[in-house]
Amino acid sequence: MGKVYVFDHPLIQHKLTYIRDKNTGTKEFRELVEEVATLMAFEITRDLPLEEVEIETPVSKAKAKVIAGKKLGVIPILRAGIGMVDGILKLIPAAKVGHIGLYRDPETLKPVEYYVKLPTDVEERDFIIVDPMLATGGSAIEAINALKKRGAKSIKFMCLIAAPEGVEAVKNAHPDVDIYIAALDEKLNDHGYIVPGLGDAGDRLFGTK
Ligand code: PRP
Ligand code: URA
Repeated sequence: MGKVYVFDHPLIQHKLTYIRDKNTGTKEFRELVEEVATLMAFEITRDLPLEEVEIETPVSKAKAKVIAGKKLGVIPILRAGIGMVDGILKLIPAAKVGHIGLYRDPETLKPVEYYVKLPTDVEERDFIIVDPMLATGGSAIEAINALKKRGAKSIKFMCLIAAPEGVEAVKNAHPDVDIYIAALDEKLNDHGYIVPGLGDAGDRLFGTK
């Protein structure tokens, strides 16, 4: 069964509070989402393999560690996932970026796929799918399906806020995928929104309604 990691770092929790606040405007919301994504990327890359190299410091020769050439791919789920990409690339600038376009049908709450463009060498890459919200789990499950269908073998899912229902759904559908969350909230409401959540992530990020 996939593991679920909830990041309870004080900086992440602090920034998340202002992301949730309905009085936080678009500019600040965007900046905070990017900052939290950077902090989460720091944790999510904890298991990256290292290799030893030899360097010379001003004092002596030394054996030291660098990240072994791992092929990484960051996949935002459109639209709202886009808000997390730059924050992750600050730490792993060489990662390739693919896009999966999904929207939730407001009636059925089922995800509808409208765009998929992935980096090459899908089979050899380690992917991190990003989306601020994991609500019913439909979008995450569909995005993981889309990646697997195209040959992806190693996938992590990272979001800011998750509902317990969504976490269970992803774990059941994709037990091989680890889930990384900044906060696990109480529940979903009748419209499939996370309570207390942050509202509509795409609208708050892009200033639409
Ligand atoms: C939001 C969010 C997730 C999805 C989560 O996107 O960014 O992708 O809902 O809900 P789920 O877990 O129930 O599938 P939305 O469908 O509103 O599209 P948008 O990003 O284009 O606004
Ligand atoms: N999508 C959002 O943007 N917010 C939610 O609370 C649920 C789904």
